[in-house]
Amino acid sequence: MVLKDKLVLAYSGGLDTSVMVKWLGEKYGYDVITLTLDLGQREDIKEIERRALSIGSIKHYSIDAKEEFVKEYIFKAIKANALYQNKYPLGTALARPLIASKLVEIANKEGAKAVAHGCTGKGNDQVRFEVTIRALNPNLKIIAPVREWNMSRDEEINYALEKGIDIKPSKSQYSVDQNLWGRSIEGGDLEDPSLEPKEDVFEWVILPERASDKAEYVKIGFEKGLPFKLNDEEKGGVELIEELNVIAGRNGVGIIDHVEDRLVGIKSREVYEYPAALCLIEAHKELEKLVLSRSELNFKGLVEREWAWLVYSGLWIEPLMKDLQAFIDSTQAKVEGYITLKLYKGSMRIVARESKNSLYNYSLATYKEGSSFDQRDAEGFIKLWGLSSTLAYNRGV
Ligand code: ARG
Repeated sequence: MVLKDKLVLAYSGGLDTSVMVKWLGEKYGYDVITLTLDLGQREDIKEIERRALSIGSIKHYSIDAKEEFVKEYIFKAIKANALYQNKYPLGTALARPLIASKLVEIANKEGAKAVAHGCTGKGNDQVRFEVTIRALNPNLKIIAPVREWNMSRDEEINYALEKGIDIKPSKSQYSVDQNLWGRSIEGGDLEDPSLEPKEDVFEWVILPERASDKAEYVKIGFEKGLPFKLNDEEKGGVELIEELNVIAGRNGVGIIDHVEDRLVGIKSREVYEYPAALCLIEAHKELEKLVLSRSELNFKGLVEREWAWLVYSGLWIEPLMKDLQAFIDSTQAKVEGYITLKLYKGSMRIVARESKNSLYNYSLATYKEGSSFDQRDAEGFIKLWGLSSTLAYNRGV
């Protein structure tokens, strides 16, 4: 008997990757090994494993990567206040290099010749997967069946029925990707950006108009730029994010609805539910404003924009990422303290902040008696501050 080459498939348990298990065997003659990571996507990992094996995967790996996802990816994103186009907290984008690195790890361990993923040719995820895979092991062949097979959704369902593939019946018209950091939703009616999303889009966040009439406070404690306390209780990252997702979600906080520029040049309408992410980034930013200097804040803003762009565009392995990270980390030693958020029917507002490293100086700032700020100094300051601009303005050209 001739031994078949092995291929490792990033298996989500959905229709595309389920059809793929069979298709890769038939079309390319591979023995297909499947891999599923638990990234906090709130799905039954055991059930996914069972399905993969029932379809014909010769071996399945389930890896709980939640801790690694938080420590190596989400925590960096918090320190970088990472929001692509000032809106999207990058949950899907951050998970891809991690999944890709596990694919390569398992492929190397199994002596596989190829890896495969379920991304389409229109999105960002294909880029994120393939750049990382190629960097980590350039010898692996990469197969993206969805780019090749040209099947519509109905054709895929027929193929699955024909081959006896056990598919999870999905009532949803949307394409969803979710993990601990948030839920990304595309497709269906959302493809018309002039229409308000229907209520069935949302699973993690209640509509603000249905949220409680009573405001809820959350206090977040940070150490070295990272959250470690929720309402005065110490928590590990995974637990803290899971809990905050629930708290913010029940107050209608965390919905993002915007038009986004994809890497491949398409503008696309994206809806997101990122309750914990939005709260943590907002709180972290506010704490930084309290403890970092004006110049540090300005420059960090530039670095953050670049950091988010590299992550979005799939360049996690780009050496500049490490350089930017070194700068970001060096600013974080001082980022320590507490931020209180008030959540109310979809709004989130910072109402209190404290830090032992605070640069806020009451005696300088106060309008009351006894301020240490000598207002007479302002006159000379203004003359010199405006000197160059005033000179140029009055040349009149
Ligand atoms: N637009 C986002 C990104 O590129 C989310 C993609 C979500 N993927 C999905 N299958 N719904 O990161």
